[in-house]
Amino acid sequence: MNADIVAASRELKGGGVVVLPTETVYGLAANALDGEAVRKIFTIKGRPLNNPLILHVLDSSWLERYSHVKKYSIRIEKITGAFWPGPITVVLPKKAIIPDIVTSGSSRVAIRCPDHPIFQAVLRTSDLPLAAPSANPFGYVSPTCIGQVKATLGDRVKIMLDGGECAIGLESTILDITSPVPRILRPGAITADAISEVLGEDIIDHDVQIVSENPSAPGQLKQHYCTDTRLVLFEHGSRELSQYFAGKTAIVFMQRPKNFDGIAKKLQLPAEAIFWFSDDGNLNVVARNLFSTLQRLDSAHYNAILCERPPRAGIGIAIDDRLLRAAAKFKQ
Ligand code: TXA
Ligand code: MG
Repeated sequence: MNADIVAASRELKGGGVVVLPTETVYGLAANALDGEAVRKIFTIKGRPLNNPLILHVLDSSWLERYSHVKKYSIRIEKITGAFWPGPITVVLPKKAIIPDIVTSGSSRVAIRCPDHPIFQAVLRTSDLPLAAPSANPFGYVSPTCIGQVKATLGDRVKIMLDGGECAIGLESTILDITSPVPRILRPGAITADAISEVLGEDIIDHDVQIVSENPSAPGQLKQHYCTDTRLVLFEHGSRELSQYFAGKTAIVFMQRPKNFDGIAKKLQLPAEAIFWFSDDGNLNVVARNLFSTLQRLDSAHYNAILCERPPRAGIGIAIDDRLLRAAAKFKQ
């Protein structure tokens, strides 16, 4: 077996913390059954203890070990059958074996099954459920490649496994499956429509405005994923963008501007200050490149980053959610 997988599993069994790739973002993992190991995650991230962690499992057969799933088995079978392994997390009543520190004292636990061969190999080898938040300092942009993790967590973690670039690039959709009408607590790549179709029932979609004023999920903070550089959002087709310019300014579009020279001239920005998340506006590509682009621009010493908002449909809802939270720290 791969020596890295063995080393990571050994570290986890010994109460250590390791960085592992998932299909969404990189995670900072510890044995979820070991409260002291889990505490190290909070310390390394500088994360408040009232922000619960997601439990990662190998497959749906592990659900019963850690949660009271029976009452919800019809919904769970539909969701896990359609989407696991994959970027959707379900919230269920927790069993006592899960220490309170994982759920911040809540009687419910969020569980997901990551779709990445390295993470799965570590789950299989260690035979442990792994608590893992995104592998970034608390509040900062989530990492989608190992370079980003190293740039922000540095030598705080000994073992970091490189699994390449994350295929999705946004954290998982979180679904509260226990409420009378299932409810999305955090939007992600798996959309409300896709979930509703699989369940064969209506679900309550996530509402950015409501959540930002009055968090419906612990940890769904108004400010999150923030760059240090001032970030300003604008709607597609907005004019008069120069009012937001501040010294050295970068601008990021959802797709490559069709009339690039014309746009550069109109904005009076050098061509090198104009960026885009995707060539053709494919929102899956935007999602994949979102956090890495923001982090790259954040470390490039701009005074301001202007960023176009995506269309609010499909995965665009989750992209917009992350951008709104990222910009919330800066007065618009
Ligand atoms: O894609 C993902 O979900 C990534 C990868 C690493 O798996 N993980 C991730 O973890 O995004 P994190 O810690 O950055 O976000 C976890 C969020 C919390 O902020 C909270 O909103 C929600 O999950 N959460 C966790 N436990 C919960 C619970 N018991 N009830 C409600 N929400 C919960
Ligand atoms: Mg996070």
